[in-house]
Amino acid sequence: MQIEGCVAFVTGADRGLGAGLLEKLLERGAYKVYAGVKEKGGLAAHDSRVVPVEIDITKLDQVTRAASSAKDITLLINNAGLNRTQQVLEANDLDAARAEMEVNYFGTLNMMRAFAPALKSNGGAIINILSILARIALPSMASLSASKAAALRMTEGARAELAPHHVRVISVLPGPIDTEMSRDVPPPKIPVGEAVDAVLAALEGGADEIYMGAMAQEIARGLAADRQALHARLLTL
Ligand SMILES: NC(=O)c1ccc[n+]([C@@H]2O[C@H](COP(=O)([O-])OP(=O)(O)OC[C@H]3O[C@@H](n4cnc5c(N)ncnc54)[C@H](OP(=O)(O)O)[C@@H]3O)[C@@H](O)[C@H]2O)c1
Repeated sequence: MQIEGCVAFVTGADRGLGAGLLEKLLERGAYKVYAGVKEKGGLAAHDSRVVPVEIDITKLDQVTRAASSAKDITLLINNAGLNRTQQVLEANDLDAARAEMEVNYFGTLNMMRAFAPALKSNGGAIINILSILARIALPSMASLSASKAAALRMTEGARAELAPHHVRVISVLPGPIDTEMSRDVPPPKIPVGEAVDAVLAALEGGADEIYMGAMAQEIARGLAADRQALHARLLTL
């Protein structure tokens, strides 16, 4: 899909990867970019092609309103995400696990269901920013992994449903990116600029599932070669 001339909707556009995607889409000639933010004041980009949209993706009324005001979209980037860095059994309660599932799984699903009719009619693509932890659990972030794994399976189902309508659905599975979300993760981390380029390259390439960064690619290879050995190695982290 061509980026020049597209009409995109990016969630979580106020910071991190989302802010980088917003900026790069404008640079690459997008016709219009709807910038999904929880609070409009937080948006740095000032460009007449940017349409700020106040949206919490867990709130169905806000998602529905956003979809009805953006019926011209050709590209949906579900970038908003939450990582509370929690184990599954040692966590004090289920608050983090529920919040991650609400944002990473149900929020992304809300967006896809609301925007699918416009994409079916306009043609285009959906990119879901998932995580390499959708494929394997890092024990210290296992509840995040569960929510991203659910989102990965959901993305595969949506891909099959939208294929007859010529809407591409792409899963992006990054390793650590250098943003606020991974501030406590030791390096190496993917610079935001590189991550942005990898997401947009996915649109121009033909693959449906993209492993971003050396760590994600190594894990994907490890899973294909010897899943049990890789799991045993992660237990020690
Ligand atoms: N950073 C990493 O190492 C890494 C690795 C793999 C995958 N990812 C994925 O990459 C994506 C971007 O993350 P990032 O690194 O840029 O993290 P970030 O800096 O923490 O940004 C997360 C963004 O998501 C938004 N968001 C959170 N909950 C939301 C909700 N309910 N409704 C709407 N927006 C919401 C945040 O909005 P507010 O600013 O209003 O909170 C923020 O804009 C996420 O899906 C993340 O899981 C990141």
